[in-house]
Amino acid sequence: MKRMLSGIKPTGGLTLGNYIGAISQFIKYQDEYEMYVFIANLHSITVAQDPKELRQNTKDLIALYLAAGLDPQKVTLFLQSDISAHAELGWILTCHSYMGELQRMTQYKDKTAKGETNITAGLFTYPSLMAADILLYDADYVPVGIDQKQHVELTRNIAERFNNKYGETFIIPEPVIPKVGAKIMSLQDPTKKMSKSDETTKGAIYLLDEPAVARKKIMSAVTDSIGIIRYDEVNQPGIANLLTIHSVLSKESIEDIVERFSNHGYGDLKKEIGQLVFDFLSELQDRFKEIKNSGIVDEVLRQGKEQAEQIAYKKIRKVKRKVGFEIVK
Ligand code: TYM
Repeated sequence: MKRMLSGIKPTGGLTLGNYIGAISQFIKYQDEYEMYVFIANLHSITVAQDPKELRQNTKDLIALYLAAGLDPQKVTLFLQSDISAHAELGWILTCHSYMGELQRMTQYKDKTAKGETNITAGLFTYPSLMAADILLYDADYVPVGIDQKQHVELTRNIAERFNNKYGETFIIPEPVIPKVGAKIMSLQDPTKKMSKSDETTKGAIYLLDEPAVARKKIMSAVTDSIGIIRYDEVNQPGIANLLTIHSVLSKESIEDIVERFSNHGYGDLKKEIGQLVFDFLSELQDRFKEIKNSGIVDEVLRQGKEQAEQIAYKKIRKVKRKVGFEIVK
């Protein structure tokens, strides 16, 4: 069975973008692949975190994974910091990454372009840690939204470089990007990605938003003055984004939705999507509450740690041998 791995940072609230670009893919593929899904808490501290909030966000993220439908019998769910091999391999791969390639990574480039001065060294080198996350488990596939594709490509380059220098060590992974929903856009500025740290919270639907509040956000989503419902990312990015959200939640194809709404206005479309989002969040949150009250989260993490460490520690030993670290056998 081919192996698949992915992770999400426990920073701030998770958005509908995270669900559509990442979590819904994990669920879709959990029967088909040997799946590893983790909470990328080492990555979260590349920007300042409050420890209490981080702990809470971490617990919420595990409960959300489970509420969304990840089955711990099929998926190894674990906390990145529980497996120290991530940090070890992260360092080794940082020393096999070039400043130039890290400087080309969008997140760093965007922050420097905005003139931000308090960028940590961790934020600069984190793509090498992400490479370690993936290569440590010999993942064949990495399901992510389009914004992470660049990092998986860097991972491939680092893996090839390492294999060439030390002999076959790592599997070269491939990104898996969803056909619909690879980049959900902000509801207030549909030319920008929907993001956890959206400047206006009206632009993002958070998975733990009150369903009625989320519905209002859909109703006030920015569209255009063209007035025709069709899928045109360039000229009607707001409507294209809404159609995408509809399609993913309803499982109806975009063409069918467009056809059904051919004689309708934007208000009707928004009303239907608002209801879909309302129902989706209500159900998800009911399960989320049940899971949080059940105490299952700790047990899932304990089991996930045991499973993940077997693979990770074997791999890190091999890497250490290859680079010349291991002296006493
Ligand atoms: P993070 O936490 O920023 O995002 C988690 C996942 O959600 C996807 N995503 C979106 N997809 C569609 N539309 C959006 N608006 C949207 N916003 C976010 C992201 O593409 C991602 O798949 N570095 C990673 C976490 C990570 C990781 C890994 C992922 C660490 N190590 C190893 C895969 C494999 C990150 O910051 O994702």
